[in-house]
Amino acid sequence: MCGIFGIVTREEQLLGPILIEAGHRLSYRGYDTVGAATIPQNGKIDLRKDVGKVQEVADRLNFAEMRGDRAILQLRWATFGAPSYTNAQPHLDSDGDMVGAHNGNIVNNVELRQQFMAEGMVVRSENDGESCVHAVERYVHRGDDMLTAIRKAYHDLEGDYAFVIGRLGEDRLYAIKQGSGLVAGVADGMTCIASDLPSILPLTRQIVRLNDGEIIVFWAEGYEIYHAESGERIEREPEFVEESMEVAQKGGYDHFMLKEIHEQPQVARDLLHLMESDPEMDALIERLRSARNLYIVACGTSYHAGLLGSVYFSRLAGRVSIPVIAPQFIAHYAPACGPEDVGIFVSQSGETKDVLNAIQSAEARGMGVLGVVNVVGSTLMRESEYHVPLACGYEISVPATKTFMNQAVAFLYLALRLGGHDTAFLENLPRWIEETIAAVEAQIPTVEGKIAPWDDLYCLGYGLTYPIALEGALKLKEITYAHCEGMLSTEFKHGPLSAVVDGYPVIFVAGPEDVPLIISGVNEVTCRGGRAIAIGEEDPRLRANADDLIVIPTVDAPESMRPYVDAILSVLPLQLLSYRIGLARGYDPDFPRNLSKTLTVD
Ligand code: M6R
Repeated sequence: MCGIFGIVTREEQLLGPILIEAGHRLSYRGYDTVGAATIPQNGKIDLRKDVGKVQEVADRLNFAEMRGDRAILQLRWATFGAPSYTNAQPHLDSDGDMVGAHNGNIVNNVELRQQFMAEGMVVRSENDGESCVHAVERYVHRGDDMLTAIRKAYHDLEGDYAFVIGRLGEDRLYAIKQGSGLVAGVADGMTCIASDLPSILPLTRQIVRLNDGEIIVFWAEGYEIYHAESGERIEREPEFVEESMEVAQKGGYDHFMLKEIHEQPQVARDLLHLMESDPEMDALIERLRSARNLYIVACGTSYHAGLLGSVYFSRLAGRVSIPVIAPQFIAHYAPACGPEDVGIFVSQSGETKDVLNAIQSAEARGMGVLGVVNVVGSTLMRESEYHVPLACGYEISVPATKTFMNQAVAFLYLALRLGGHDTAFLENLPRWIEETIAAVEAQIPTVEGKIAPWDDLYCLGYGLTYPIALEGALKLKEITYAHCEGMLSTEFKHGPLSAVVDGYPVIFVAGPEDVPLIISGVNEVTCRGGRAIAIGEEDPRLRANADDLIVIPTVDAPESMRPYVDAILSVLPLQLLSYRIGLARGYDPDFPRNLSKTLTVD
């Protein structure tokens, strides 16, 4: 996830060390390029940027010597355009008298770049941050002042972003918030803005929080806030914050895992915008349609998302695909594959060795390689003919949550498009995710205590919820250290039923169309003294038969689409339940023992 920082000071001074420190404090968000610019009132903008880590780039380009009274810093997590010098931010306007940087995604970037080029502007990169600068330049060159130009640019820029810009010959900077984080900090003779608090806290604890659709104009001695839409001035006093740096990085949540669970509505929104505006989407869909055999290859959580994707493809598009855990692809399917076949390789990191080995064996057979990947610039992305960027930003917590969400959302979107269905209803998905998190969070405390003492349990699902049950079981294992087996609910009676004793917990994930079948399983457990915990929509049959019911809201999706949406939503209680039980058992959910975020070994 990109990060921005902007500062204006009373006197010209050495700003380099402040920029480097801000870079370090933004770096937990994840990034692949770093850039800084100082903007004198007269003279030339000093812009330095490159691929690499903050300290590396700062040392190589000597950020430490950068002087001035206005500066911008940006850390970029690549979405539009590969990580490179050209795509690194900040960006200059055509004639180099303005410089700006953003975080977030401008989803109409491709169209805007074409417009800017047609209007004679100098477009140097593929990056959407550059589009923000040209969107302002367009109106400044038509005679508008900066504030008016930014207000007009706000109407041209589609997506979720925060953006900072400055111009030669002035004493101020401007920033706008629309969907991405932006806060300001004020002190005597200094005003700054940043994507979030950690880079501001070393400078001041007087904070001004901004809302979407607001522009802040700031100079060394003060600031003004305006409504982007109406142009009206907004009065807002700074507030004193006491948060520690660590709490600030976690956005006020106790753990990164909880923060990332709560980021899911936003990342899903970002992803859907990106997929809707992806100029390569038609070609990607055609590639899926025309493949002889289609494989979905991944490990761990990414495999569970792929398994769900495979159910979506069959049911929504009549397209058979074979989901397979990456190393088994090599041993089982690769020998029979050829150039007519296509593999969708799914990986958060894009660096999992098991997945890369499978790609190698696919490539050796001449197969098509497609990627669904979070880390842009990763090996998987580079090896893919087409890729879907998951747009989740940096996932810090070892248990994957928001990346599972976006993998599932990506597959649902692809399946709908492949099957020729309308995708419009998906615009409500972020809201449904948000409502489900809120509803479920309130219910978990009544259930967690009944599961937490057990070192062994099951998590069962059927059809669309089978992959969700596997994912729930993995989450529970990963952070509670209890053994939890995920299984098809109908298989439970074929052996594992013998584990059931008094109070033994079995979780059932019940899709709305499978309630009767799930109820049979529930009764097989309860009649032997086991505890059946159901997850599903409010349903009198589940209420009457299960010991506990964690209710997910019945969403206003088209009736035929509700089971597909429900499957995605039903992972949320399992993420939250794992988090709470892990804590109850005394473990750190963010960094479970023995595990690593990226497994680059065989
Ligand atoms: O980066 P990847 O998606 O390829 O990683 C695959 C698995 O190692 C990963 O999903 C792992 O299972 C998660 N930590 C589970 O939460």
